[in-house]
Amino acid sequence: MAEELKTFLDRRLAEGMDRRDFLKLGASTAGLAALAACGGATTSGPSGPTGPDFKLGIVLPYSQVYADLGNSITNGMLLYFEQAGNQAGNRKIVVTKADEQVALADAVAATKKVVEQDGVDMVAGYVSSPNANGNRNYLDSNKIPTLIANAGVNALSRANKSAFIYRTSFSNWQPSHPMGSYLYDKLAVRTVQLVYANYGAGIESVGSFKETFKGSFGSDDVKPPLNNTGDWTPFVQKIQPDKVDAVYVFMSGTDAIGFLKKANELGTLRKLKVVAGSGFFVEQDVLGAIGDAAPVGAVTGLHWALTLDSKENKDFVSRYQKKHGKPPDVFAVQGWDTGRVIVEALNAVKGKTDNKDAFLKAISQVSFKSPRGDFKFDPATNNVINTIYVRKLVKDPKLGYTNQVIDTVPGVADPGK
Ligand code: PHB
Repeated sequence: MAEELKTFLDRRLAEGMDRRDFLKLGASTAGLAALAACGGATTSGPSGPTGPDFKLGIVLPYSQVYADLGNSITNGMLLYFEQAGNQAGNRKIVVTKADEQVALADAVAATKKVVEQDGVDMVAGYVSSPNANGNRNYLDSNKIPTLIANAGVNALSRANKSAFIYRTSFSNWQPSHPMGSYLYDKLAVRTVQLVYANYGAGIESVGSFKETFKGSFGSDDVKPPLNNTGDWTPFVQKIQPDKVDAVYVFMSGTDAIGFLKKANELGTLRKLKVVAGSGFFVEQDVLGAIGDAAPVGAVTGLHWALTLDSKENKDFVSRYQKKHGKPPDVFAVQGWDTGRVIVEALNAVKGKTDNKDAFLKAISQVSFKSPRGDFKFDPATNNVINTIYVRKLVKDPKLGYTNQVIDTVPGVADPGK
């Protein structure tokens, strides 16, 4: 009997035995005895977890416009797993990655790869709004517990909410909503030109800003395509500093880098009274890449800043800096928090994820002090409730170009019901 099982195990291990096979085998006493006799199928040492591996599929961009965002989220998540000993609920956490890229077809292929080929227990990731929304029905109908680690598409907190999908990042509505009234009331801005990557996240971000901005808008929005690899000159030249007080910008990744470098070269933003936006276009990933092209003085809304003066943030920043030799950005924080939600939910159910209702309930109940402030989910939207920090871009003598917090708007919850 033991010999038979050993042969079976060796064969299945060579083929990549999946979790169900393991559980089937482990369910019989003979199976357990045989496992013990031949060293067991778990991959850890004597003091490590004894349950089956917990397979996590990470679907994030590792190429094109949002590659740096995907890398930061991954770094943050793996850093959290590392400090948790790469295990939770008596299961070793095993990660498998797939490249989201930009186009939905590629993001769908990446999701199917981790679900159907790798047989993951859970999916985490998605940077771009159309990709998160476009994978929603597949994840929902296949009942895959999923954490969205960036993509802000509002519909996931509203009409397209799913019992299987929670979001650890933000909705596109959140960072921009407080900014309309901030610009009008506190900065006396009366006219704004909207500048945004022309796709879901850009459109929803400026839409949210418009809800609270009481002034008027320049006649032409500036709308470069997402992942613009062409010349930035025509887009920057469309900005009319003589006609408006301010621009309100949504761009991220290499789009923000290309735009800001060209705007600096042409001197366009320096002619405006106020440069504003949701904070992604001046986040640390962008600032690290553009050096002195940084639009010092820019005022932006975001759910984190490198300079946040809390113990949780300082610990996180120094840990990340030590490991990666550069400061984290908001995406790394989102990855770290995603990792923490996974670890805490796994611990809460003692690794028993087969009862999906219980696992999802445990996810919904995770709350903790994050580098960004208090982290908790809103049961109405499955989306995290964020404090939005109003930040001003400065050149700090110690930190270089970075964002300082000048105002705080706590408890910003997406209005989904
Ligand atoms: C999005 O597509 O939802 C998105 C992408 C990049 C960001 C923020 C939002 O920085």
